[in-house]
Formats: sequence, structure tokens, C-alpha cells
Amino acid sequence: MTAERNPSPHARAAHHLVRAAVLAPSLHNSQPWLFACSDGALLLYADYRRRLQLCDPYGRQLMISCGAALFNLRLAMRHLGFRPVIHLFPDVGTPWLLARVEWGAYARVTPDAELMHQALRRRHTHRGPFSAARVPTSLMEAFARHAHAEGVQLVALEDTAARGRLSRIVHEAEARERRVPGFGAELLRWARPFGDDRGDGVPAEACVFHPDCVALAGRDFTGLTRRRATARPRETWPARTGLVVVLATPHDTRQDWLRTGQALQRVLLCAAGHGFTAGFHTQPLEFADLRALVRSLTPSGQHPQMVLRLGRIDWQVRTPRRSLAEVLPRDGAAPAGAGHPA
Ligand SMILES: Cc1cc2nc3c(=O)[nH]c(=O)nc-3n(C[C@H](O)[C@H](O)[C@H](O)COP(=O)(O)O)c2cc1C
Repeated sequence: MTAERNPSPHARAAHHLVRAAVLAPSLHNSQPWLFACSDGALLLYADYRRRLQLCDPYGRQLMISCGAALFNLRLAMRHLGFRPVIHLFPDVGTPWLLARVEWGAYARVTPDAELMHQALRRRHTHRGPFSAARVPTSLMEAFARHAHAEGVQLVALEDTAARGRLSRIVHEAEARERRVPGFGAELLRWARPFGDDRGDGVPAEACVFHPDCVALAGRDFTGLTRRRATARPRETWPARTGLVVVLATPHDTRQDWLRTGQALQRVLLCAAGHGFTAGFHTQPLEFADLRALVRSLTPSGQHPQMVLRLGRIDWQVRTPRRSLAEVLPRDGAAPAGAGHPA
């Protein structure tokens, strides 16, 4: 249906929703999602062929990425003036079918939702120092409310000792990933050189700072530290790390992961709507022992799902997306298995 010359109103609406959905962040910009239309509803599938086998063996981050895309779908429907009706995991026989999104009753879009919708294209991941501007307390409270509305706790690590502990844990995780060749090879498969025109992966343009230039170590997408193990950043800005937060859930199921993705995107879009952006540091959640240490930093001992930092920066780099035809197959057929491990 994507190539139709005169698409039906339903198809046009589906295109609108999917175009919004794919703007979501995803692990290494892997975009592990597929969509289909069914009786006027939109179906969201996980595409396990795009799962990162070493750093995401259980598909936890894949599911978080799909959750973020689901929030964008919901938002795009609200923007058109309809309440989305969501059925999560609607078919037990098809576990890679994550959600069925139906058009609900007409409802005027709220100013909050509209602000987030306007921020969809502005939101991007930042890898480097932020400006000196701090996230105001009122905005931090809004982030926590948005996460809570999705059943996720946002824990702000404002205490210097807790931030220091997290910084050491992230460094240890990143050091392990740089040491183990398999991790490096997996990362480089998603790293794109300057000027590359593929529709996925992380472009070098988005990685211009040394990965160790702020208090939380970043992933080394450009292979800088592999080329020269002793390469140290010429300049560091620990004070420009931004507000460090952890998103955590009471349990650690697929439902929790999908909820985390929706909460994540809500927080990111609220931030973008107010001129703030985020950096991600999820490496320690990829090792059971380090994830347990991050868990000990959350007051209620909840399961950590995301590690983020938020701050202000004046410029953004666009990352590519796959075409509509690739993610919304023409025949609308359910992607068979989509590589699901079960
Ligand atoms: C579950 C998840 C984990 C991520 N982890 C990291 C990370 O550890 N380091 C990083 O630089 N970016 C991380 N990202 C951000 C992605 O690399 C980014 O979303 C992707 O490249 C698309 O770019 P954009 O967010 O600018 O649209 C993560 C994103 C998601 C959804």
C-alpha cells in the first residue's frame, strides 16, 4: 500500500502515524520495528532480525525502542484529534505482535500533547557536553509525572556520591565493551562514516566529541579508543554532564520494557518541547552484575531500564531513518516470525 498512487484516506492516515512512529530513538538506530494495517487499525511488530545479539540478548532494549515508537503512534493519533485505543500483545500466538492501535473517540488534543507532537522532529540524541543551563525543578517534576503516567519511576541522581558511583559503573561497563572484540564488532556494524546514505545506524556526524568527555562514558562509535587504547580526550567537561536520571520499573517483563519505551519517549518529547535534549548511557544495563549495582542506586530497588542525562544544547544532528516502504510492507502482511527467538 505504500506505493499506491492514490492512497485511501485510511492508508494516508496510516502513513501519517508510521512517519511519526519511526522518529523514535532506538538502540544504535537499529529501528527494530515493522507496521501493518488491519481493518483500519495499525499493528506494531518487533523485528527481532534487528536485535543486537551481544548487547541486547533478550531483546529488552529492542522492546524499549518499540515502546518509544508506540508512544509516537499514540501521539500522532491524538494530534489528529482521536484517542488511541491500545491493545498490547493482542495475540498470544504471535508474541512479536506488540500492539494493535485503533482509532477511538474524537477528543480535542491537549496543549501538552501538542507541544510534544511539535517536538517530534526536533528531538535527537546528543553525545557530548551540554551548556551550563540546568534543568529547572518544575521541568524535572514534569518528567517524573510523565514517566509515572506510564507506570515507570524516574529517579534523578542529584546526590554527588550517587552520581559518582553511577559514573564509575558506566566506565566499567564501557571498558568491558571496548575490551571484548565481539562488542566492538557489533557496535561498528551500526556505526556509519561521514556522509553515509544508509537509512539506519549512528552517523559519525552524531559522534564528534570524545566518548569520555563528560562524567558518564559514552559508546565509542567511531572506534577512537580502539585505534589508540590510550587516547584521552583533549578536554573534558564533567560539570556539563547534565541531569542524570534512571528510568526503573517494578518488574522486568516484556510489558515493563514496552512501558519504559513509552515513558522514555514521553520524557524526551517533553524535554525537547522545552528546549532540552538527552544523552543515553545504557551500557551497564547490559551486564547482570553492573545492572544490579545500578539497581542499588534506585531508592525502591526497582529494575533499572534506562540511564539518561538531560541538558540544553543549541545544535542537533539528524540521524537517518529507513523508508516508509521498508517498515510498512506493501501487502500489509504480518511479518512472519520477524526473527523472534522463541
Ligand atoms: C534502548 C535505547 C538504548 C540506547 N542506548 C544508547 C547508548 O548507550 N549510547 C548512545 O549514544 N545512544 C544510545 N541510544 C540512542 C540511539 O543511539 C539513538 O536513538 C539512535 O541513534 C537514533 O538517533 P536519534 O535519537 O538522534 O534519533 C539508545 C536508544 C535507545 C532507545
